[in-house]
This record gives sequence, structure tokens and C-alpha cells, in this order.
Amino acid sequence: MATRPDPILLTPGPLTTALGVKQRMLHDWGSRDTDFIGMTADVVRQINDIAGGGDTHACVPMQGSGTFVVEAMIGTLVPRNGHVLVCVNGEYGRRIVKICDILGRRRSTVETPEDQPTTADMVHDALAADGSITHVVLVHCETSTGILNPLEEIAKVVSSQGRSLLVDAMSSFAALPIDARKVRFDALVAASGKCLESVPGMGFAVVRKEALEPCAGNSHSLSLDLHDQHQYYLKTKQWRFTPPVQVVAALHEALRLFNDAGGQAARYRRYRDNCDALVRGLTRIGLVPFLKQGLQAPIIVTFHAPSDAKYDFNAFYGKVRERGYTLYPGKLTQVETFRVGCIGAIGAAEIQAAVDAMAATLKEMGVTQLAPARPDPGSRSRAAAPASSRNR
Ligand SMILES: Cc1ncc(COP(=O)(O)O)c(C=O)c1O
Repeated sequence: MATRPDPILLTPGPLTTALGVKQRMLHDWGSRDTDFIGMTADVVRQINDIAGGGDTHACVPMQGSGTFVVEAMIGTLVPRNGHVLVCVNGEYGRRIVKICDILGRRRSTVETPEDQPTTADMVHDALAADGSITHVVLVHCETSTGILNPLEEIAKVVSSQGRSLLVDAMSSFAALPIDARKVRFDALVAASGKCLESVPGMGFAVVRKEALEPCAGNSHSLSLDLHDQHQYYLKTKQWRFTPPVQVVAALHEALRLFNDAGGQAARYRRYRDNCDALVRGLTRIGLVPFLKQGLQAPIIVTFHAPSDAKYDFNAFYGKVRERGYTLYPGKLTQVETFRVGCIGAIGAAEIQAAVDAMAATLKEMGVTQLAPARPDPGSRSRAAAPASSRNR
């Protein structure tokens, strides 16, 4: 079968990985092989180190995509009579609300428009108003827009109010600084196929040991139980159920590359440069970013769709893909947008070439009105909806 070269994935995962990461998967390992057990031990130790976890925290790996470990975190850390405050300003916050509902955990929300961060003041007021709230769940970088929520400020408020913080750091971990010695959280989750630049297939939670210890029996689920997974690992150094051996091997190599390249600070700089080059390049041709730049995490950028009648996302996507670049659709319900990721094993050259491919494609399609349609004052987007707080 003839194969095309892999596209450059400008998406928030799966993303473009280094050749060495792919090559590390070309082996078979048994789950009890000492080599494999050693790789798992290295991976969990290094992830805990990246989070500044030290002896107070432990990294618990979990099979599956990112949502599996988000669900495992909530099901394990929140007791069945707990009450969760979910900070919502996008799709992944809404997914956490859904998880709480399905797991039968009582929940309330603080909601902000999709172009505005949750603020520490809002969380403070919600906690002060309701002493029954036990946990706050925050999405650090809300990948549905790329907005960054102020983790450190919110963590201070949650801690000063004596509640627990759970963080979905899926698209920020290892790129943005998160240090458990400075930011108090009970659990933080992310996954292999995001800013660590490996393949998808496993998530992990960095959990404060003191918070995890009393969680036996909280989980609604056999497989998504972080407490049980951790206990089994402590006893055997093995995964409880079939481990994704090739995914662990790839992540092991991705972590080596991450450390060799200078760790989180270096990764942040590369993504920042990618993001700046992307925004500069697409703004120059007339496209308009959805977020104010001060709110933008250097992970994924949302752009308004051009107002030109000749623009059609699927056609644009297909033609840019033919040129070798994979874009990402928008995830906003009421404003037409598309997204371009800045993460993965890519740098300035790939970003510049992608900008050129998008510019050439729009030209070929005859799209000349690149600015977004002016908002209809009667139908404000969800992005402009008022901030609110809801209880269920
Ligand atoms: C912030 C955030 N949370 C959760 C997820 C869910 O991950 P998955 O689609 O891998 O289940 C993602 C995926 O991109 C994400 O960006």
C-alpha cells in the first residue's frame, strides 16, 4: 500500500511526535518483564518530578484517553457525599459537569463566558456562600478555546477556604509551570499524548498521598479507581490490568527527549515561539484570533472563521490537509471558529510553512473577506453570556 508522508498535526493530541518516540514502540514487552517494570517506575517518577511532587505526592498512571483519568480523579477523590464546584468556561469544563452528574456527585458550577477566565474572586464567593462544597475542579488550559485559567490564584483561594482542588491540566502539564510545592492541589491529571509529546493511550494523576489514602471504596468503577491502582502498584510495581506497554515505552523516550531539551521551561519557550509566530502570521493575512492575547495559553489558538461566503471549514480543512497540515475544527457553539495547535514536536519552520499553506489555500478558494462576521447584537455568543453560578 502506498503511504503518504505523515501530516504535521496542528491539533491538541494526537500530535506530531519525534521519530525516536515512534521507533520505541517497535518491540514486544510482557507486563512482568523487568525492563517494562523499570520503564513504568521511571515514567511515574519523572512525571511526579515535573509536577514538583517529591515525597508528598505520587504519580498514578491510568490506561485510556484523557477523559478516563479525569473521570478516575473525580470518582476516586470525591467521596460519594462530596460536593464539587466545577469552574466552567468551555467544553472540557462542561464535560466535568457531565462526569459529576453521571457519577452521582453533587455539583455546582461557576460559569464564565468562553473568552473569559474563571477568577479567584468568583471561586472565593462561591465557596464562602456554600460551606457544603468539598472540592473545586479547574481546567487549567481550556483547550476548547486555548484560554488559560489562573491556577495559582484559584489554588490559594481553595486552600485558604480549606477545600480540595482537582486540576485538569491535560493540555498544560509539562509546558506551563505547575509546582506542587507552590500550588496546593490534591490531584492533577494529564495524558501521554499532549505536551509530553508522546502517543495517546494513557493518562496519569499526580496525587497528594495524604488525600489519596482515605479514598478506598469511593470509586464507582473497578477500572477507574486511582486508589486501587496505586495500592496494587505499591505492592507489585505492576499495573493492575493490561498495561499499554508500547505507549509506556514511547512515553519513556518522550520524557528522555523532554529532559534533554531542557524540561518544562524549554518546552514553554518553544510553544510560546510557535504560538507567537502563528498568531503573527495569520493576523498578518487578516484572520482574527478569538481570545485577547493576554488570555491565550501557548497551546492552541482559536481563530474566527472568515466571513467570506466562499469560506467553508471542511473545504479549507481538506485543502490544507492536502498541503500536509492537519487543522482542528472550532468547538464553540455559537461563533464559527477553527483552531490551530502549537504543541507537538514542531517548531518555527513548521509553523511558518503551515501559515503559508493556510494563506495559499484561502487564496485558492477565493476567500478575501478574512475578518469575522460582525456579531448580530440580538444573538450574543456564548462567549458573551453573563457570568453565573449554578447549583444542582
Ligand atoms: C483540557 C482537556 N481535558 C480533557 C481532555 C480529554 O481528553 P481525551 O479526548 O483524550 O479523552 C482534553 C483533550 O484534549 C483536554 O484538552
